[in-house]
Amino acid sequence: MYKWLIIICFSLVVFHGEIRGEEVVPSEPEEEKSELAKLMHEIDVDYKVVEGMSGWYKYKKKHWKIILNAGENMVKVTKKIRTKFARYDDWTYQELMEKMQIAAEEMVKVAKDGEREGALEDAQWQVRMLRRTCAKCHKHLDIHIYPNLYKKKDKEIPPAP
Ligand code: HEC
Repeated sequence: MYKWLIIICFSLVVFHGEIRGEEVVPSEPEEEKSELAKLMHEIDVDYKVVEGMSGWYKYKKKHWKIILNAGENMVKVTKKIRTKFARYDDWTYQELMEKMQIAAEEMVKVAKDGEREGALEDAQWQVRMLRRTCAKCHKHLDIHIYPNLYKKKDKEIPPAP
């Protein structure tokens, strides 16, 4: 009887260990991400929302709401980045971060008045303005995100101050 209990306990421990082992390994790169990278990831999610919709020819009220929400998030996160991760030794970075905030703020303005004629085109324009800031800043910092998000990161990106 006891023998079985011991065997069961033992295998539970081993089994548990295996599961834990599996859980821990893939999540490791996640934990290594800097806070700035996480904030950037948030920007990325919202940016992709507005970009994904930018080819449409008409937005309904509920779509404007989604755009408004994405824009507001981007403003919020960009402001946070600008205060927490300012780089006073890198004027281009500072300027492009500000431009990203302005582009997101403009997006909010457009989305708040979605019924207005030309609002759709203005929203599309703001998506382009946003994309320009992403591309310029990543190029400036030599970040090649999409082909190789994590592997080259350590070498290419200077640590946040
Ligand atoms: C002013 C500079 C700047 C602008 C503008 C900028 N980025 Fe970034 N981005 C960075 C930096 C710096 C990192 C690297 C962060 C790190 O790994 O610590 C980064 C990393 C990223 C990452 C990788 C995050 C991860 O999960 O490791 C994504 C995705 C990203 N940016 C998307 C965007 C998008 C989308 C935009 C435009 C809407 C944008 N970025 C605009 C500076 C910028």
